Amino acid sequence: MEETDRLRLMKCRDQIVQDVNSKFLLKVLEADGVLDANAVNVINAEKSDSDKTAKLLAILPSRGPKAFSCFCQALAEDYDWIVADLETVEVDSLTALKTLLMKGGVPHQPSCHITRNKELKQLRDQLSCLEAGDFLVLHGMTGSGKSVLASEAVRDTEVTLRHFPDGVFWFRVGMLDKDKLFGRMKILCEKLDSSRIPSSVDHAQDILRDLFVGPKAPYSRSLLILDDVWSADVVKAFNVGGRVLVTTQDLRTVDVVPRRFVIEVEAGFAEAESLELFSRYVGVKPEYLPDEAKAIHAECKGSPMVVSMIGGLIAENGRSRSSGRWAYYLNNLRSRKYSKFRKQRSYQHGGVMEAVMLSIENLDGRLKEKYQQLGVFLDDVGIPNKVNLVR
Ligand SMILES: Nc1ncnc2c1ncn2[C@@H]1O[C@H](COP(=O)(O)OP(=O)(O)OP(=O)(O)O)[C@@H](O)[C@H]1O
Ligand SMILES: [Mg+2]
Repeated sequence: MEETDRLRLMKCRDQIVQDVNSKFLLKVLEADGVLDANAVNVINAEKSDSDKTAKLLAILPSRGPKAFSCFCQALAEDYDWIVADLETVEVDSLTALKTLLMKGGVPHQPSCHITRNKELKQLRDQLSCLEAGDFLVLHGMTGSGKSVLASEAVRDTEVTLRHFPDGVFWFRVGMLDKDKLFGRMKILCEKLDSSRIPSSVDHAQDILRDLFVGPKAPYSRSLLILDDVWSADVVKAFNVGGRVLVTTQDLRTVDVVPRRFVIEVEAGFAEAESLELFSRYVGVKPEYLPDEAKAIHAECKGSPMVVSMIGGLIAENGRSRSSGRWAYYLNNLRSRKYSKFRKQRSYQHGGVMEAVMLSIENLDGRLKEKYQQLGVFLDDVGIPNKVNLVR
């Protein structure tokens, strides 16, 4: 069901629950194939009529593209005034977009943000013409801004509500072994359709295919975003016929899909973009920034990650127009690149490691100690609440 229709149902929910007896509706919706016997049983297990209607409204949004129109048709028999309300209730498209992205777990923009118009236009254009089974790939080096671009591209009512009205599902992948991959697929299946629990990767693929592909599939007009993919196994596992956006540093991971379209993300900002980002962090117009700001841009080749980290460090320290702090970070970037951190990797990555080290060093003693204690956790492991680090 489209997000805007779901919002319409939510807006009229109280009136529907109060006035509508769902007995007749259930028969029609079952005959139309919108509800299956299992769903009807779940609804009928509720005690009162209003609880049954409330349950129907809760289930309906996950019952495919026809669910809203079939519901309105069935309702029109006895409750035409409610149908009129449903059709005329104002739904603000920005609210619809926000809830759709929130439900899909799409991350927010960074607090200080630069719009990369060229890449964004290219990405939005390509997203708008993706077909079922297509993979769109954002490729670039670490910290180049792929994930930020992907989340910004879908933060657009025209692109998302028009082309992906059933949802945009963000899936942070990272480095996964086969067990973890299955665990993640299971989580996605549960999130989309709690009634079927997969028992293997193949089974999970079958479930996802049913959810994403075909005229009755509840998410046929949705987008799956696989963020930070490192292995072709992940791409294979999610190659189930839906539309997919991938971010990756390694193009070989998508060799396994026939219909793939690649967008290269520049490793760094242009100088004007770096200065604009510094300016937003420190609240000083670009033309009043000290010369060291340009030198930092040149040193890290405009790496968005490094520029944003150093912008954040300078903003935290205050006195952002005095060139002392800027010179300090510039010297650190320079000296590290040619000494302690003089590794091929670090050089290629435009000072990302150096900026990360600077951020860690900037922590006060107590927080730095807590940060080091986190080293006992493996990559990607959820840290339990019991580990109360902030005290
Ligand atoms: N357009 C932007 N405006 C402001 N900051 C940005 C922008 N793009 C990236 N950044 C900064 O750079 C950081 C790294 O960006 P992002 O996570 O998108 O990189 P990536 O290419 O996905 O890296 P990786 O390959 O390691 O996943 C962000 O956390 C943010 O601080
Ligand atoms: Mg990323």
